[in-house]
Amino acid sequence: MDNKRRFALVGTGNRGTTMWGRDLLAGWRGYVDLVAIADTNSLRAERARTMIASNAPIYGDVDTMLAEAQPDLVIVCTPDDTHDDIVVRALESGADVITEKPMTTTVEKIRRILDAETRTGRRVDVSFNYRFAPTAGRIKELLDAGEIGRVTSVDFHWYLDTEHGADYFRRWHAYTERSGSLFVHKATHHFDLLNWYLDSDPEAVTAFADLQMYGRKGPFRGPRCKLCPHKGSCDFYLDLEADPFLEALYEQPSEIDGYFRDGCVFREDIDIPDTMVANIRYRNNVHVSYSLNTFQPIEGHHIAFNGTKGRIELRQYEDQPWETAAEDVILLVRNFPKGVPAVERIAIPHSPGGHYGGDDRMRNMIFKPGVSDPLGQRAGARAGALSVLCGIAALQSSRSGKLVRLADLMPDLFENEVRPVRQFAAQASASAGP
Ligand SMILES: NC(=O)c1ccc[n+]([C@@H]2O[C@H](COP(=O)([O-])OP(=O)(O)OC[C@H]3O[C@@H](n4cnc5c(N)ncnc54)[C@H](O)[C@@H]3O)[C@@H](O)[C@H]2O)c1
Repeated sequence: MDNKRRFALVGTGNRGTTMWGRDLLAGWRGYVDLVAIADTNSLRAERARTMIASNAPIYGDVDTMLAEAQPDLVIVCTPDDTHDDIVVRALESGADVITEKPMTTTVEKIRRILDAETRTGRRVDVSFNYRFAPTAGRIKELLDAGEIGRVTSVDFHWYLDTEHGADYFRRWHAYTERSGSLFVHKATHHFDLLNWYLDSDPEAVTAFADLQMYGRKGPFRGPRCKLCPHKGSCDFYLDLEADPFLEALYEQPSEIDGYFRDGCVFREDIDIPDTMVANIRYRNNVHVSYSLNTFQPIEGHHIAFNGTKGRIELRQYEDQPWETAAEDVILLVRNFPKGVPAVERIAIPHSPGGHYGGDDRMRNMIFKPGVSDPLGQRAGARAGALSVLCGIAALQSSRSGKLVRLADLMPDLFENEVRPVRQFAAQASASAGP
């Protein structure tokens, strides 16, 4: 009997075409069959189908696709504000769903998805690939084992370089209505990592955010890079013609819907911040200091967990202007007992593939039968909801200047929650100790 998942791909931009199209079929063909492709841009869908090397039928309309192709899994890779509609339709057709992050962008849309999941009894997975990075898994093991006692605070700082960071200001991500701002679109990964690492729910957020580089802060602006009179002097000039992939998947199909990949990063109407900080208080009393910066010379993050017995620290880069080491090093630093070597250097070799190697491991867990999940890495709709809600709270706080409690935004997300507030393994002994 053929047990392959019959999946449909909705949204054939970069993410859909590579992660969930070409690469999924290349590595997991034994477990999946691509039975339909849907995109509102027919030319992009055709280009994607060629890149994926598939002969699946193409649809411009999701309802028709669901009715005709009857997939048992729908993978949603469209812009963030459209996820909820497609997820709900897919669930109602009887399919399970994998949605790209962020799960969605507003409280109402979160509720729609959670209600539909409950109503239909189908499953929603959210693509939180950073949980699957080998470094993240090791840190989670150390925390769960109580190696640093009870965690009291976390320092977490994420840096996007001028290439990746700028990309969010070229397109739909640059509008709060489409992406929820980077507090939702990008930080959903980071808030989810925190929720998972700490095994607790964020309770309250205060935040500041500002536009410092892009949008109206730019020195000049043009219609788009391709037609810009400033291309010779702009640090952010993007030459689409130099990139055959972007030219084929975005530039030529843009004739159909006017969706350009090289929008000006200095557009006056950009309404999201590019520089953000937030303080988050968790229900288990952990305090988090978080920041996200979008025009750095490095791409990566620094994270440190401070505990009653010591500290876990990691500096990890996906790109940086110096020689890359072959491994990342987690520092496990202990306070006590005195006289014992205080530092343990835990080397984790780099893994190939996207998101510190998380993409491949996540696909293995979702598609390969019998892959166990001892660290709870596979993320469902509540995890998707919680990290989005944290981002919504952060944006709201940065605009109002007030502390925002998540339960005030969406009481129903917490009312039926049976998950106990996490007590770290060593909490009892730690609280009795020094
Ligand atoms: N997990 C990750 O690390 C990761 C990485 C990159 C992107 N993403 C997510 O993947 C999603 C897609 O990102 P992208 O960069 O490929 O976006 P994109 O804008 O390049 O592509 C989106 C595609 O969806 C199509 N589309 C728009 N509305 C549609 C609708 N209603 N029905 C069908 N098709 C529709 C567009 O025509 C386009 O082809 C986003 O939600 C993004 O946040 C996640």
